[in-house]
Amino acid sequence: MPLDRYAAYFPPVLHFGSGCRAQTKAVLQECSQQAQPRVFFVCSSRVRQQEITAAWLNKLDGLLAGAQVGIPHDPTLETVEALRTAARQCGADIFLALGGGSVIDAAKTAAFLMSSHAPVRQSFLGQAALPSRGLPLVALPTTAGTGAEITKNAVLTDTVGDFKGSIKAPGMVPAAALVDPDFTLSLPPAITADTGMDALTQAIESYVSSGANAMTQALAAQAVALLLRHLPQAWQHGDDVQARTRTAEGSMLSALAFSQSGLGAVHGLAHPIGHRFGVPHGRACAILLAPVMTWNLPVAEAAFDRLAAAAGLADARELLLAVKTLCQTMAIPTDFSAWGMTTADHDTIIKNCRSGSMKANPRPMTDADVANMLSALAGTA
Ligand SMILES: [Fe+2]
Repeated sequence: MPLDRYAAYFPPVLHFGSGCRAQTKAVLQECSQQAQPRVFFVCSSRVRQQEITAAWLNKLDGLLAGAQVGIPHDPTLETVEALRTAARQCGADIFLALGGGSVIDAAKTAAFLMSSHAPVRQSFLGQAALPSRGLPLVALPTTAGTGAEITKNAVLTDTVGDFKGSIKAPGMVPAAALVDPDFTLSLPPAITADTGMDALTQAIESYVSSGANAMTQALAAQAVALLLRHLPQAWQHGDDVQARTRTAEGSMLSALAFSQSGLGAVHGLAHPIGHRFGVPHGRACAILLAPVMTWNLPVAEAAFDRLAAAAGLADARELLLAVKTLCQTMAIPTDFSAWGMTTADHDTIIKNCRSGSMKANPRPMTDADVANMLSALAGTA
């Protein structure tokens, strides 16, 4: 049942479409309210080496005061601490992040905590008061999947506590997002599949989550329709600008939806599984999506029927079939047996799955329910 009362926190500035990266300099000036802001740039090594990036950076006319190139997948609290130190040393006025979810999440947290004197880990663990606002962040995604350029949270790994968790605050919403699908043209098929399935999962979970409302459902339904239709083509023909554009748009709409509504059990389980076995986040989501949809079917069939209709499908069962077929097409495995998951792993996963995402799932799961699903996905049931 969609909520009757809700609030929304979106980036105040949003640019979408092929070539919109040309607006970056003007957006940096607008968001910093300075003609010559000192920009701290964060980027992955892979993206930095690309021609499109070099040409784009050349247009920023010496605004870069400092940079960190090379952010690990699943960034740690130490990564964020190092970014914050480097940004302070160069006297940054504003952050600019170009990359996938890992790059944007690390930059987002560092920018937000610039005004805090507490160690990053204390802020992450809720042991230090969070600031209301940090430095502005302008984010450009280079994958069509995570939605980190839209959301008010970041997923980080605590190496001391040995878990993956979220830090979340309204002040973490990026000041601007520029979603330019041209950056995704060179993504390899496996990353296209994983990130695209993350976007699809986020839209489907958002639609049936307990935090869904009329606005988020409209966004999520359009996201599902776009992703089901265009992701296979973007996966197969990566240089198809139209397929990349519609996939990036689906990802953006998915993020606009789930960032307000919350997610569900797929994301509740994908984080501890990803952390324990090193499964890429989107791949973990893709493997979990059909089983969790099947679990939710008894309470969410009418909602899935409506979602199916928005995507031009007959009903909930056809939607479920479309998800399974898409995974099969993109060679995504149906379980975690390849990562060696066994029943011995269940306790840790169950202990770490009780996040806000799990609580937003429309059909609650007991520990025994989770264990049953994990057994099936370990390929041992
Ligand atoms: Fe996700």
